[in-house]
Amino acid sequence: MSYKLFIPGPIAVSDKTLRAMAQPMIGHRSTDFVALYNSIQPDLQALFYTKDPVYISTSSAWGVMEGALRNVCQKKVLNCMNGAFSDKWNDVALRCGKQATALKAEWGQPVDPEAVRKELATGAYDCVTIIHNETSTGTMSDINALAAVLREFPDVISIIDTVSSFTVVPIKKDELGIDIIITGSQKALAMPPGLALITVSKKALERSALAKDRGYYFDLIEFQKNHENGMTPSTPCIALIYALKSKLEDIMAEGIENRYARHARLNKTVQDFIFSKGFKLFPKEGYGSVALNCFANTQNIDLGALNKILKSEHKLVIDGGYGKLKGKTFRISNMGDETDATIAELIKALDAALAKTPKAAPAA
Ligand SMILES: Cc1ncc(COP(=O)(O)O)c(C=O)c1O
Repeated sequence: MSYKLFIPGPIAVSDKTLRAMAQPMIGHRSTDFVALYNSIQPDLQALFYTKDPVYISTSSAWGVMEGALRNVCQKKVLNCMNGAFSDKWNDVALRCGKQATALKAEWGQPVDPEAVRKELATGAYDCVTIIHNETSTGTMSDINALAAVLREFPDVISIIDTVSSFTVVPIKKDELGIDIIITGSQKALAMPPGLALITVSKKALERSALAKDRGYYFDLIEFQKNHENGMTPSTPCIALIYALKSKLEDIMAEGIENRYARHARLNKTVQDFIFSKGFKLFPKEGYGSVALNCFANTQNIDLGALNKILKSEHKLVIDGGYGKLKGKTFRISNMGDETDATIAELIKALDAALAKTPKAAPAA
């Protein structure tokens, strides 16, 4: 059965992108591959607003999120935590045997620049992790304010996850002085899962060169050496790289500013409709994500029933809350290839489905 995904990743993939993947294979050490790899670098650098290389990893985002820590954390990492994915990054650091401090904010609150400044000022850290857009709570932190604080600590390598904000809003790596930015293929890039992108500053590479236990698969020095030859360290998922090339063509044809404006407009359209039904946004006011909306279930509806109706009668799916927010919030993605027309269809379906959705049963 086929239905359309409005969950915040993976999201719907266009026929054009799917067709781009269905091309004959080429050898990953061939001149054809080098031409493919090199042809997408300028667009990737433009989208990250950087002169640094953008490495392509055949893994989900967690691969390079863990890898970045294994490369640059030799002293202690400050993990800024305000939701499921940023909380887990602290767990991942500890599992890698790193010294790590959990700087916790309530779910739905943004990462507080002042709290980051206070902690980094102790001098205990050589790196920091921040998730720009906490997908679990639909909370977008203020990357410009955070980067201003990070620039006060040039010895601390900044690792920023933009998994669900890349190409949704501008994140100007070089101007902001960020060392490492990470993203994944299945969010706003509207590709199938399986590819991660990581762009790395010279300073971070120099730090990485000192690490004795950075492993092989996510070794940034290996990525850099191969990048210089237009290749990846190991055999990549070439089909996904074809898809990436196709998607970059789409983004450049639309124009990046138009893309940002489209995401902001569609985000607000969904928000206005759901507000009209009496729901409120979950994250702190002013910090709602532009890629998705996470609404508090203030009308206490049965979100499982809502999704059943949406799936069976309208062939689409939204998200009924992540982790401990299951049943308490619902998330609707507007990222990727959505248009005014597809969001209008979504709203029509939601309107009809909400009218039939019962209240949630009282807790036992
Ligand atoms: C903000 C954020 N970071 C990291 C991840 C992990 O990505 P992956 O499952 O592709 O490794 C996700 C997944 O939803 C995410 O939303």
